[in-house]
Amino acid sequence: MILVTGATGTSGSEIVKSLSKAGVAFRAMVRDPGKAEALRLPGVHIVRGDFADGPSLDAALVGVDRVLLLTPPAQDQVAVQGRFIAAAVKTKVKHIVKFSAIRADAKSPYAFPRWHGESEQQLEQSGIAWTHLRPNFFMQNLFGLAASIKSGAIYQPAADSKAAFVDVRDIADVAAKALTQTGHEGRAYDLTGPQSLTYHDVAQIFSTVLGRPIQYVPVSSEAAGQAMKGSGMPAWQADAINELMTLMREGKTADVTLAVPELTGHPAKTLESFVRENVASFKQ
Ligand SMILES: NC(=O)c1ccc[n+]([C@@H]2O[C@H](COP(=O)([O-])OP(=O)(O)OC[C@H]3O[C@@H](n4cnc5c(N)ncnc54)[C@H](OP(=O)(O)O)[C@@H]3O)[C@@H](O)[C@H]2O)c1
Repeated sequence: MILVTGATGTSGSEIVKSLSKAGVAFRAMVRDPGKAEALRLPGVHIVRGDFADGPSLDAALVGVDRVLLLTPPAQDQVAVQGRFIAAAVKTKVKHIVKFSAIRADAKSPYAFPRWHGESEQQLEQSGIAWTHLRPNFFMQNLFGLAASIKSGAIYQPAADSKAAFVDVRDIADVAAKALTQTGHEGRAYDLTGPQSLTYHDVAQIFSTVLGRPIQYVPVSSEAAGQAMKGSGMPAWQADAINELMTLMREGKTADVTLAVPELTGHPAKTLESFVRENVASFKQ
């Protein structure tokens, strides 16, 4: 039996759809079954589970041999994933596919890559077979910029650097393969879209699709940090996101990999196709 955690989120909900489409019967763990209506698809069995509630994890893991481990971005995510891995060892889970992140590295100076790197190490030392999915920046993050795009500009502290943005639906298709096929144990996959793009390129794609000029305005890290904190984001999170933009300016998010087409058998989605499909979210 497969268990998908983080099932109501941006990525988890797409992983649930991919597994359901593949004809697999599996469990989707949610902390509030009331929020799970959209997940009630063929093959999906909803179970209640909360990362903060050990007995609920033990119950969700009964009879489970493979897990997609996805926890929300949080300061205590290493401890949360550590507790989950310990529970999975107890219930004799055989394989965990860990939803990690680009440049995961326990020695990274930057919080999110370091935290994912530390959790990857914990999982590798647990005795459970592992697969690490390390996605680049999600195309779906652009929904968070919709208000700004509607007003004609994208403000980012990215200078002229590039990212190989990936569509979460492609990550989900890779996750479904890793959970249902053998041969992915002990592998780490860097998951990217098909193109490495600057925010100038991103703005150009929006301009083309929307039929009106959208400008990219590079800003400083300080200005971006102030804007995020001013909008109510906790300081630790704004700082961690700013670190990811530093990673981008250092050129560490630019590489395009072939993991999505090679593992799924279909091409990775382009940013232009993502924007065209979601144009209603970005129109004035
Ligand atoms: N954004 C990016 O560009 C990017 C790139 C690479 C990697 N990542 C990684 O992707 C991960 C986040 O993925 P996402 O954006 O898909 O997440 P998300 O949309 O924030 O979803 C988080 C999920 O975790 C669930 N959750 C939260 N607290 C929980 C708890 N106490 N017990 C059980 N479930 C709980 C949420 O359920 P509720 O509905 O109940 O809240 C939701 O289903 C992070 O590890 C991040 O580092 C992100």
